[in-house]
Amino acid sequence: MGVSFLAKAASLLLATATASTTASAAATSAKGNYTEHLSESFLSKGVTLSRNYAYAVLYTGIELAYNKTSNPVYYNYVKTQLDGVLNDDGSFVVPITSTLSLDDIRIGLNFLWLWSVTGEDKYKNAADYLRGQLDYTPRNPDGGFWHRRPTYPDQMWLDGIYMASNFYTQYTAWFQPGNETAWDDIINQYDLIEAHTRDNSTGLLFHGYDASGTAVWADPVTGAAPHIWDRAVGWYFMSLIEMLDYFPKTHAGYARNVKRFQTLAAAVKKSQDSASGGWWLIMDPPYPSDPRNYIESSGSAMFTYGLLRGIRKGLLKEKEYGKVARKGYEALKRDFVGTNANGTLNWEGTVQVGSLGSNGTFEYYISVPLAQNDYKGAGPFIYASYELEGY
Ligand SMILES: *[C@@H]1O[C@H](CO)[C@@H](O)[C@H](O)[C@H]1NC(C)=O
Ligand SMILES: *[C@@H]1O[C@H](CO)[C@@H](O)[C@H](O)[C@H]1NC(C)=O
Ligand SMILES: *[C@@H]1O[C@H](CO)[C@@H](O)[C@H](O)[C@H]1NC(C)=O
Ligand SMILES: *[C@@H]1O[C@H](CO)[C@@H](O)[C@H](O)[C@H]1NC(C)=O
Ligand SMILES: *[C@@H]1O[C@H](CO)[C@@H](O)[C@H](O)[C@H]1NC(C)=O
Ligand SMILES: *[C@@H]1O[C@H](CO)[C@@H](O)[C@H](O)[C@H]1NC(C)=O
Repeated sequence: MGVSFLAKAASLLLATATASTTASAAATSAKGNYTEHLSESFLSKGVTLSRNYAYAVLYTGIELAYNKTSNPVYYNYVKTQLDGVLNDDGSFVVPITSTLSLDDIRIGLNFLWLWSVTGEDKYKNAADYLRGQLDYTPRNPDGGFWHRRPTYPDQMWLDGIYMASNFYTQYTAWFQPGNETAWDDIINQYDLIEAHTRDNSTGLLFHGYDASGTAVWADPVTGAAPHIWDRAVGWYFMSLIEMLDYFPKTHAGYARNVKRFQTLAAAVKKSQDSASGGWWLIMDPPYPSDPRNYIESSGSAMFTYGLLRGIRKGLLKEKEYGKVARKGYEALKRDFVGTNANGTLNWEGTVQVGSLGSNGTFEYYISVPLAQNDYKGAGPFIYASYELEGY
């Protein structure tokens, strides 16, 4: 299994050696250079060391900048950041504690990437620690992972599906492809979140659900949270399209997730704001027309990216989705990318958090401030740019 990744790694490193002189030519091509331009802007600001998921989301963007340009500055940066959170044997400088959060699994995808490029055991070991964490993360009675121990017992959030299931899927594809228990377990996470949070009228999904029904926001029948939050749906949309690259086509769950992705894409298309081309922070009616609501940049970037990738992968028809995706991308560039005097870029308009640790009301979601240069929005904008610039 490892051999083909090492071969790929070798060819990537070879590409680095031979292609770095052409990187600047590629950067000025007619296709645009937001992938590396925004990446470079973050490099120039410096980023502290962390295993937090938001950092992981940014690093994936910088991996794509490396993939696009073969410029070693991006590779070196990701490696330095990841080495900074690992001991030499791949264990964590800040170890896993009694708090177990699905958010902490997300950086496993970056460890897998770096392992595939370097072949170094250290990064495989780091991925193994996170895979191990899933074996002792508590579950609700249906087998769904708790979003976090101890704070969110029995709760599944759309966010957590992206944070953990994509790593779980890629890890299983690479290291345990014959583990049917794992494949069934992975698809069960999607089955559960769909059964409890898919809104049958908009086709979008509520933020999460509480299987115990005790959370202050839980619907008495489904356990669902009351609102559709754009970033949560965005995480889930990205999760569906990315997991399909690794999930076995022969498993019955594959077709289910294709259908779920396509159904969600239709709902995303329908909910695009026709005036701006972006998407609302709170997406369930009547809130899109509420003057306190606004077009939020991280969810908008995730939807744009998911649509573009879905088209490229042949799961969405260009004829039906191309215009929507391009209109979304124009909105992102126009409304959320700013330029500093020194030529670096800023990413604007991303809401800091949306947590079901709150009371779950519309008033809560709109009370959370926006942040500049938030990795959770900037990362997905880089992914969307790469879809347009990298192929
Ligand atoms: C991207 O292109 C702009 C001009 O459109 C240029 O100013 C900038 O330096 C380029 N950035 C990178 C990282 O290539
Ligand atoms: C460019 O300007 C921004 C905003 O003032 C700053 O944060 C960044 O560090 C500067 N970058 C460089 C390379 O000077
Ligand atoms: C990087 O580019 C190669 C060649 O185009 C592609 O096969 C690979 O999937 C890309 N990797 C990522 C992480 O996008
Ligand atoms: C297969 O996956 C299951 C579920 O995650 C796990 O408990 C088990 O240890 C895995 N089997 C092997 C051989 O790794
Ligand atoms: C959507 O409809 C299905 C099938 O009727 C139902 O099981 C599910 O609870 C509904 N979802 C929500 C969030 O109401
Ligand atoms: C819910 O929390 C928000 C602030 O987070 C507050 O403005 C609102 O009044 C609360 N609503 C209820 C019903 O508790």
